[in-house]
Amino acid sequence: MKTKITELFGIEHPIIQGGMHHVGFAELAAAVSNAGGLGTITGLTQGTPEKLANEIARCKEMTDKPFAVNLTFLPSLTPPDYPGLIKEIIDAGVPVVETAGRNPAEYLPALKEAGIKVIHKCTSVRHSIKAQSIGCDAVSVDGFECGGHPGEDDIPNFILLPRAAEELEIPFVASGGMADGRSLVAAMALGAEGMNMGTRFIATQDAPVHQNVKEAIVNATELDTRLIMRSLTNTERVLNNEAVERLMEKEKRLGDDLKFEDILDEVAGVYPKIMHEGTMEAGAWSCGMVAGLVNDIPTVQDLINNIMSQADEIIKSRLRNF
Ligand SMILES: Cc1cc2nc3c(=O)[nH]c(=O)nc-3n(C[C@H](O)[C@H](O)[C@H](O)COP(=O)(O)O)c2cc1C
Repeated sequence: MKTKITELFGIEHPIIQGGMHHVGFAELAAAVSNAGGLGTITGLTQGTPEKLANEIARCKEMTDKPFAVNLTFLPSLTPPDYPGLIKEIIDAGVPVVETAGRNPAEYLPALKEAGIKVIHKCTSVRHSIKAQSIGCDAVSVDGFECGGHPGEDDIPNFILLPRAAEELEIPFVASGGMADGRSLVAAMALGAEGMNMGTRFIATQDAPVHQNVKEAIVNATELDTRLIMRSLTNTERVLNNEAVERLMEKEKRLGDDLKFEDILDEVAGVYPKIMHEGTMEAGAWSCGMVAGLVNDIPTVQDLINNIMSQADEIIKSRLRNF
């Protein structure tokens, strides 16, 4: 399938794996790229520029296809060494960077000068327009359904994608709630040039996370995610568990007085325990409503092949027959 996104990134299928904290290592990124999509290494998870350089080198050993690095710009008291991370990305010749969080304008000139394509992930039309105006090559439009940070506007993709199509000139992919060939065809009908998936890619044999995490996604339904940290204007969609219930109890009790420090036990440093040790009650972890559509743990290659053949079947048979 050729779209503006496959052309822009030099990939075979319009399917991107979004950056995911403690999930986006070389194994997953390479598997997605080898299957014809665009895999993504999560920059901040690696910790230091040297470790990121090492992860990029490992990924290059596993694939000769294009892959991306995600740079998430979060408010932080001790900010990560973004210039150092960007230097390693440029020196290694990584062709695509997925930015997310804060406006990436400050770092864009260095990336563009190096010929890197930048896709910015955002949760609103106004932020998408801003990304276009500062020179991003594409956007990943992340609807309210998404796992992780859906922003504070609460606009689902059935509205957000056609609104983005009305306003944008640069290509965009649909992100949030995407799982299969049906998602891809629907996203394209609404104006997207492809799709970005997070949660679906975790439940694959290639995702370098504990089996318990994959099974938790398979066992979850679309009713099992919760929104936390709303009062901190840092909303996150997570899979419900004991820690999330404890956190929500504190939110209810403290109301507007809630501070980040009050929920440190439930959110700080919990990803390694969950993703690598499989201690599922250790804290809150991002997960999309799309878990309700995830019922198996295929290889990434099979997942992507199935998505493309299902999309083909829908376009050529189902839609044509109406
Ligand atoms: C476990 C997990 C961790 C994530 N971590 C990040 C991250 O560090 N940076 C980022 O930009 N997005 C992150 N995301 C968001 C994904 O890249 C993607 O935008 C989102 O999962 C799409 O929604 P979906 O889960 O419905 O497919 C994360 C998502 C999940 C599920």
